[in-house]
Amino acid sequence: MYKKFKKVLVIVAVILVGLASYSGYCSFSGSCLTVVARLQNLRANLTLDKTAIRAKNIAIFQEKKLKYLYNSIFETQQLAGLDIKRDLPYLNVPKKYEWYAQQYSAQIKAGYVAPISLRFISDKVGYGIFAEASIHEGDLIGEYTGIIKDKAFVNDTTFSWVYPSKKNKDGAPIEVSLDSKYEGNEMRYVNHANKPNTDKIDVPIDGQWHAAYVANQAIPAGKQITVSYGKGYWDTRKINPENFD
Ligand SMILES: C[S@@+](CC[C@H](N)C(=O)[O-])C[C@H]1O[C@@H](n2cnc3c(N)ncnc32)[C@H](O)[C@@H]1O
Repeated sequence: MYKKFKKVLVIVAVILVGLASYSGYCSFSGSCLTVVARLQNLRANLTLDKTAIRAKNIAIFQEKKLKYLYNSIFETQQLAGLDIKRDLPYLNVPKKYEWYAQQYSAQIKAGYVAPISLRFISDKVGYGIFAEASIHEGDLIGEYTGIIKDKAFVNDTTFSWVYPSKKNKDGAPIEVSLDSKYEGNEMRYVNHANKPNTDKIDVPIDGQWHAAYVANQAIPAGKQITVSYGKGYWDTRKINPENFD
C-alpha cells in the first residue's frame, strides 16, 4: 500500500516537473523554480534508499571496530531511583521538555536516524556527517547514542556530553556522562560549527534524559550536518576548528 502510494507520488511529481519545465513558465518565474526544486527534492526523497544508506554507515562502524547503538545504554548506578521530572532542568521549563517528548520520543525509541551518511573530510577533521536528502527545520537527525556512565570513567571527552541531572534521588551531587567513544551511532561523527544547522536537545523519555540532534533550519541534500560543542570544548584542545558555518 505504502509502496503504491510512493509510486503515485513520484509519478505525479515527475509529471508536474515536466509540465512546469515544458510550459516555459519556469524561465521567468522564480516561484515556479522553487516549486520545481521542491518537487525534485520530493522525488529524490521518495526514491532514496534509506535502508542502504544506514547499512553503509553501520558497515563503517564495523570496519572501525565500533559498536553501533540504536539507543543509549544506561550503565551508571548514580541515576538509580531518580525521577528526572522532579529534578532540574525539567522543573525550570517542563512545557518545553514535554513538547520535545511529544515530538521526538517515538522516533528516538525506534532508533530513527535521518537520511545522512558518513564521509571522510580530511586527516585533520576525520569524518563528518552529510545530508543525503533535504531535511526540514525541526526534523530529528537522531538520538546521540552512547553509554551513560560515571564521568570518572571517561578519560577522553572527545565524544561525550554531560548528562543533564546533577543530583541523585537523595539530592546528593552526581557526575554522569554520555560517552560514544567506543559505542554509538552517526551522531558521534557530527562536527562542530559556530553557527550550526542542528541543536543538541535533551528529551525526557521513560524517566531518563536522551540527547538528540534536531535541525534548526532547512538542510539541503549534500550539506554537512553540524552542531555546536560549546565554548569549553576547544579551550582544552590544541586544534583550531575549521569553519563549517
Ligand atoms: C565528536 S568528534 C567528531 C567526529 C570526528 N570528525 C571523527 O572523524 O571522529 C570530535 C572531533 O572531531 C574533530 N572536529 C570536529 N569539528 C571540527 C572542526 N570544526 N574543525 C576541526 N576538527 C573538528 C576534532 O578532532 C574533534 O575533537
